Amino acid sequence: MGFREDFLWGGATAANQCEGGYNADGRGLANVDVIPHGPDRRAIITGKKKMLDFEEGYFYPAKEAIDMYHRYKEDIALFGEMGFKTYRLSIAWSRIFPNGDETEPNEAGLKFYEDLFKECHKHGIEPLVTITHFDCPIHLIKEYGGWRNRKLIDFYENLCQVIFRRYKGLVKYWLTFNEINMILHAPFLGAGLYFEEGEDEEQIKYQAAHHELVASAIATRIAHEVDPENKVGCMLAAGEYYPYSCRPEDVLKAQQSDRDNYFFIDVQVRGEYPAYGLKKLERNGIKIEMEENDLELLKNHTVDFISFSYYSSRVVSTDPEVNEKTSGNLFASVKNPYLKQSEWGWQIDPLGLRITMNSLYDRYQKPLFIVENGLGAIDTPDENGYVEDDYRIEYLKAHIEAMKDAVELDGVDLLGYTTWGCIDLVSASTGEMKKRYGFIYVDRDNEGNGTLKRTKKKSFNWYKKVIASNGEDL
Ligand code: BG6
Repeated sequence: MGFREDFLWGGATAANQCEGGYNADGRGLANVDVIPHGPDRRAIITGKKKMLDFEEGYFYPAKEAIDMYHRYKEDIALFGEMGFKTYRLSIAWSRIFPNGDETEPNEAGLKFYEDLFKECHKHGIEPLVTITHFDCPIHLIKEYGGWRNRKLIDFYENLCQVIFRRYKGLVKYWLTFNEINMILHAPFLGAGLYFEEGEDEEQIKYQAAHHELVASAIATRIAHEVDPENKVGCMLAAGEYYPYSCRPEDVLKAQQSDRDNYFFIDVQVRGEYPAYGLKKLERNGIKIEMEENDLELLKNHTVDFISFSYYSSRVVSTDPEVNEKTSGNLFASVKNPYLKQSEWGWQIDPLGLRITMNSLYDRYQKPLFIVENGLGAIDTPDENGYVEDDYRIEYLKAHIEAMKDAVELDGVDLLGYTTWGCIDLVSASTGEMKKRYGFIYVDRDNEGNGTLKRTKKKSFNWYKKVIASNGEDL
């Protein structure tokens, strides 16, 4: 009983939130570089405000982030010390193709990840690679309009042709697009989209999503052609919707809200647009333009496993009186009176993880992989930089217990678990450093001050013990 023998314990990061080195060794600029910390951030990531270059008076946290570009050996050694079996990271597209539309890749960028993957293997760590984690070369946005343009499929295909061949034997687990459903909530992150006055945003988002879905199917095809050992996953920002009450209207609304997210995964796992989704698009006057063999591609190249992030469940109500919302998260949710919340207003619901896992497994019967879960919290280090983060341990422990129940009691097939931000990094939604998730403290603040020194937190040894006991000793 318990987790499978080869259970992949580990942690997760994304290039733009940890690497820094934004212009090192020929790297090109990406959307994620030009999103500042501060009040304009939300408008930019949601496509309401256009920012495609560095502007005076702003601080751009991704430029240096935690400088993992130059410190990855030290960081991976620490992951190895914790006993990580896997490390989820993303490649920065613009390191490999600085503009995105070149025919030849940038060797220095390719070499960087090759060395990094080798470093992982040195420590017995299997890399799990997200091909696109919210990043898009800025040139592709300026010149082509990001993923609204079908040409992006070809550029993404070039990237895949190069990386699958170059990293054959070094990387086996791939994710095509991080949180693909995020395109609806943060389209600049999800697809390099921003909108001009009067544009039909929903139409553009769904067209861009179609391009990503086709690109994802092509990536899956190439991955399997290049190496039949490759396993490719989709990636969902998950979290079950609960009806606020048992009023049938609330229950229906919860089901519909879940479907808004499943829509993308249904295509990637089942190979077809779901009937409910097509009807909804039709009702809303959205028409997706497709090319002749798109549907065949989607049908023939479905993913091998389903990965997802889980931070919280969500709640909906049809009663206008029930309108207290939770803050922080990009997904709209009514406040759940039964749950506590984090310092950023994200609700904490370990049992919701088990519920979400069961819904996904019931729906698809394919192996699951939890590739993000964690608590963003304010850490206060002592004079030696040590953080006693019992709150983080408590959060993770409760979630691991729930996922264990999903495996042991419900029979869900789970490949692994990577906590989000295993080392402190820049927050995607707020751009802050003080929203910390890590087992490793990084000395850097919201304004970019600090030595970048790494220090193990209390949770470091706790997680080491969890991994060593394959989740028995919590
Ligand atoms: C997920 C993203 O949405 O949530 C990560 O895939 C992100 O990139 C994580 O960092 C946590 O969100 P935040 O806003 O606290 O960084």
